[in-house]
Amino acid sequence: MNDTQDRPGPAPAANPQWGGRFAAGPAAVMREINASIGFDRKLWRQDIAGSRAHAAMLARTGIIAAADADAIAGGLDAIAAEIEAGRFAFDEALEDIHMNIEARLALRIGEAGKRLHTARSRNDQVATDFRLWVRDAIDGLTAQVTDVMRAFAARAAEHAADPMPGFTHLQTAQPVTFGHHLLAYVEMLARDRGRLDDCRRRLNESPLGAAALAGTSFPIDRDMTATALGFDRPAANSLDAVSDRDFALEFLAAAAISAMHLSRFAEEVVIWCSAPYRFIRLSDAFTTGSSIMPQKRNPDAAELVRAKTGRITGALVGLLTVMKGLPLAYAKDMQEDKEGVFDAAAAWALALAATAGMVRDLTADTARMRALAGSGFATATDLADWLVRVLHLPFRDAHHVTGRIVALAEAKGVDLAGLSLADMQEVEPRITAAVFAVLSVEASVASRISFGGTAPANVAAAAARWIAALA
Ligand code: ARG
Repeated sequence: MNDTQDRPGPAPAANPQWGGRFAAGPAAVMREINASIGFDRKLWRQDIAGSRAHAAMLARTGIIAAADADAIAGGLDAIAAEIEAGRFAFDEALEDIHMNIEARLALRIGEAGKRLHTARSRNDQVATDFRLWVRDAIDGLTAQVTDVMRAFAARAAEHAADPMPGFTHLQTAQPVTFGHHLLAYVEMLARDRGRLDDCRRRLNESPLGAAALAGTSFPIDRDMTATALGFDRPAANSLDAVSDRDFALEFLAAAAISAMHLSRFAEEVVIWCSAPYRFIRLSDAFTTGSSIMPQKRNPDAAELVRAKTGRITGALVGLLTVMKGLPLAYAKDMQEDKEGVFDAAAAWALALAATAGMVRDLTADTARMRALAGSGFATATDLADWLVRVLHLPFRDAHHVTGRIVALAEAKGVDLAGLSLADMQEVEPRITAAVFAVLSVEASVASRISFGGTAPANVAAAAARWIAALA
């Protein structure tokens, strides 16, 4: 890598972009640590779009000749075609995507190409390119989050009335329906989408024209470039425009929160697939086998979705750490903003796709879930509520009476519905046979009709609402 660093012989030539001030080029390791072309080449489309808008504006405002702007536009088209076709030679000596493209432009069209960087700096250029890239990523990820919501909503409609044990502390709590559980993830993903919307709205200001940090003496039209690039307005303060990376941080925060949601579902998939649970089964398409244990069917996709959360959260913490304590305005530290964002966006996209795949693939063992929904005295709260409603016991007393009935059932090795009326009356003499109507799993879930509750009718309606909203 840095084999030329201390070698005797002629020094490398100075960078042609600033060769006036520099007699010699950088040490090999300087070049290596300085270069971002290895990763920021991803920004080429945005860089060309930004340059195209800038050149058109320079011509419109009379800063460069119309003929030069035409030549620049033609040259940029040709360069785009070269990159698209894989024929563009990216050069580490030219540091980054901005100088690679600009140098190539000058080579292709000569003099006019050298006028492109008038009233512009790489500082506003990279801020613009990166915003455009993140904006595109937001649009793609919004569509993907929506797709995962659709997958969950469709399965929720299918399982609106299928009971499963609801858990708190991973202990059986009260019966819920599987559809209700799946719709909880639709709500989470809806908030994830909202965070992407919010991020996009605040992101959508153009840094272009802030130049290095102070603005420019040329009579540029920042509204024109902002509009051309689909921004809502130019960023109001040139120092802020080149040094703000909130948009990347907000994007990463949205990614980290969403990845956390996906990770919670992934963890449930892992649990539900396990032999002691057997709530769901994933097909061969979403599992792997073991090279030694022939019986194994491992939910690797779920485990990897769970794990992707680590690198996504790492990218957020990484960029927060890069940005903290940076004085205004631009500092080269900020070049470290991109890789984490690129990586997190790719990991998030993959996690979303894998989640959608698993949700559509899974087969629920509804009989097994139904059987377990009734275990663990899951309808004890229904009994307590009956004591309140019918016998008018204060809830605290009803809770106590129910606790004694549960203890009795536990001692006899039966569930609540397995106790006789006489057993129950031993604890509370006023209990009647009518109590048995509330002790079944079906009665329990059907009774939860409060807004947002798990009653199958509620769940079916909520799933239908989501399906319609997402259509
Ligand atoms: N490659 C740089 C980055 O990603 C571009 C901006 C460089 N500006 C500068 N003045 N050195 O941040």
